[in-house]
Amino acid sequence: MGKYVIKGGNPLVGEVEIGGAKNAALAILAAAIMTDDVVFIENMPDEADTNVMLQAIESIGAIVERPSRHSVRIHPSHITGYTIDNDYIRKIRASYYLLGSLLGKYKKARVVPPGGCTIGLRPIDQHIKGFTALGAELHNEEGGIIDARADKLEGNHIYLDVVSVGATINIMMAASMAEGKTIIENAAKEPHVVDLANFLNSMGADIKGAGTDVVKINGVKKLHGTEYTIIPDQIEAGTFMVAAAATKGDITIKNVIPKHLESISAKLVEMGCQIHESDDAVRVVATKRLQNTHVKTLPYPGFPTDMQPQMTVALGLASGISIVTESIFENRFKYVNELTRMGACIKVEGSSAIVEGVDKYTGATISAPDLRAGAALVIAALTAEGFSTVEDIMYIERGYEDFDKKLRDLGGHIEKVDSEYDATKFKLKNA
Ligand code: UD1
Repeated sequence: MGKYVIKGGNPLVGEVEIGGAKNAALAILAAAIMTDDVVFIENMPDEADTNVMLQAIESIGAIVERPSRHSVRIHPSHITGYTIDNDYIRKIRASYYLLGSLLGKYKKARVVPPGGCTIGLRPIDQHIKGFTALGAELHNEEGGIIDARADKLEGNHIYLDVVSVGATINIMMAASMAEGKTIIENAAKEPHVVDLANFLNSMGADIKGAGTDVVKINGVKKLHGTEYTIIPDQIEAGTFMVAAAATKGDITIKNVIPKHLESISAKLVEMGCQIHESDDAVRVVATKRLQNTHVKTLPYPGFPTDMQPQMTVALGLASGISIVTESIFENRFKYVNELTRMGACIKVEGSSAIVEGVDKYTGATISAPDLRAGAALVIAALTAEGFSTVEDIMYIERGYEDFDKKLRDLGGHIEKVDSEYDATKFKLKNA
C-alpha cells in the first residue's frame, strides 16, 4: 500500500488542469445504463470511485470501452442482471445511484447498501421515501441487499425533508422513466445535480428546474443514446485554490466554472488572497499571512462540506481565531487529531471547530481518515516544516486523479512511495 512522503515549505506556483467532476461522473455512469443505445462520455475522471462504478455496470452486462483515458463508451443493451453486489461496490457511496437508474429503466433493482467515506451516519430515508412515492416497494434482504421493485412507476409530488444531493439525483433518474409528472421540492441545487439533469435531457428525458429547489420531471417511455462532456470538478478545483492560499503560492486553476467556486473564492478573499477570474480559470495569489474568518458548510450555493477540511487546514495557519461549523455531516472533524499532531491549535465543540491560527505546522506521520480530509492533510504537510508521511492514501485516490503529480508540477515536494527504502531515498534527495 503506497503512502505520500512530503517535504513542506515550498509555495505552490504554476498552472493546474482540473478534471471531470467525480460526483457528476458517478451519477452519469449510473444513468448511462437507462438506454439501450450507445452512450459516449468525455471528461471522465480516471479515479478509483468512477472506475468502481464502471466495474459495477460491467458486472451486470454493460460493455465498457475506454477510447482514451478520459473518455468512455458504454453499450448498455447487453445488460441482463439487476443485482449489484460485489466487494468493490460496497466501498463506494454512490452505489445507490444504481437503485434509481435500474428501477427507472427495468422497474427492479437489487443493490448492496452504500459504503463510502465514514463521515457520518448518512441515512438514505429520503431516497426510499422518493422511490416509494413513485410506487416502488423496497425491502432489505438478508445480507443487507436492498431490493426495489415496482409494477409501474407513477409520477408524484415529493418534498425532501432534508436537502439531499443523493436523493434528488436518485429520484430524478427513476422519475425520468415513470408515467406522468414528478415534482421534487426542497431539491439539492449542486452543480452535479444540474449536470445529471442535462445528461438525462440529452438522452431524451424531460427535466426542468434542476439547479433550483423545485425540479419538475415529465416521465418518458424511452431514453436514447448521447454524447456528453462532464463538468469540471468543483472540489478538486477548490482543493488547489486552498493549496495556493495555505502555501502562500500562486496557482492558476484551469478548466473550471468560476461560478461553481464562488463560495470558496469569497472566503479566500476574506482571508486576504487575491482571486483573478477568467472564463474558465481562476488564479489564486497569496502573498502574505492569511487572516482568520468563519466558515459554515451549507448545501449549494453555500460553502461545500467537501471543502471544510481543506479550509480548516488553511485557517489553522491564519492570524486570529476562526470558527468552522459543519452543518451537513456530523462526523467530519476526525482529521483534527492528525492536524493537532502537526502543531495545529484546534478544539472541536459539537459541530464547530475553534481554530486558533499557528505560525506553522511541523512534519509528522499522519493518516488520511477519508477522501477530503486526506487531501487537506496533504496540503498541511506541503506547508509544514520538515518531512511528513501521509498514510492510507487509497482514500485520496478515490477522488483525486494524479494528485501527487499535479502537486509536483506546481513545485511541491511530494512522492508516492511503496517502501521504506523509497521513502528514505526521497528524504535524502530532499534533505
Ligand atoms: C453528496 C456527495 C458528497 C457531499 C454531499 C453533500 C456524491 C457521490 N457525494 O453525498 O461528496 O459531501 O453530497 O454535498 O455526490 N440525508 C438524510 N437522509 C437521506 C439522505 C441524506 O438525512 O436520505 C442527510 C445526510 O445525512 C446529510 C445531508 O442529508 O446530513 C446531506 O446528504 P446528501 O446531500 O444526501 O449527501 P450525499 O448525496 O450522500
